[in-house]
Amino acid sequence: MPWRRVGRSEDFPAGRGRPVFYSRWRIAVFRAGPRLYAIGHDCPHQGGPLSQGTLDGPCVVCPLHGWAFDLQTGRSVNVPGASVPTFPVEEREDDVYLWVPE
Ligand code: FES
Repeated sequence: MPWRRVGRSEDFPAGRGRPVFYSRWRIAVFRAGPRLYAIGHDCPHQGGPLSQGTLDGPCVVCPLHGWAFDLQTGRSVNVPGASVPTFPVEEREDDVYLWVPE
């Protein structure tokens, strides 16, 4: 299984996003509420960096033009049909692991 350790828990502070670039994958990891979420890093509109977006409850808002994405499903909540991929992410002890396809 392609689980990859991507950092320590403390590297992912609450309420912020962090980019994780691994191989060909560009992923944004967020700590929102009690857990971590991982979604595609690049906004499907014009490639805005979602890791720098603002968290709004269960969503992240793109910093460029405001498209918002549900962190759990990757679907946009304000642009019908738009979405980003989601990735499994979990904490084990004090480390963070991300599942990325080979
Ligand atoms: S690039 Fe994200 S909303 Fe335009």
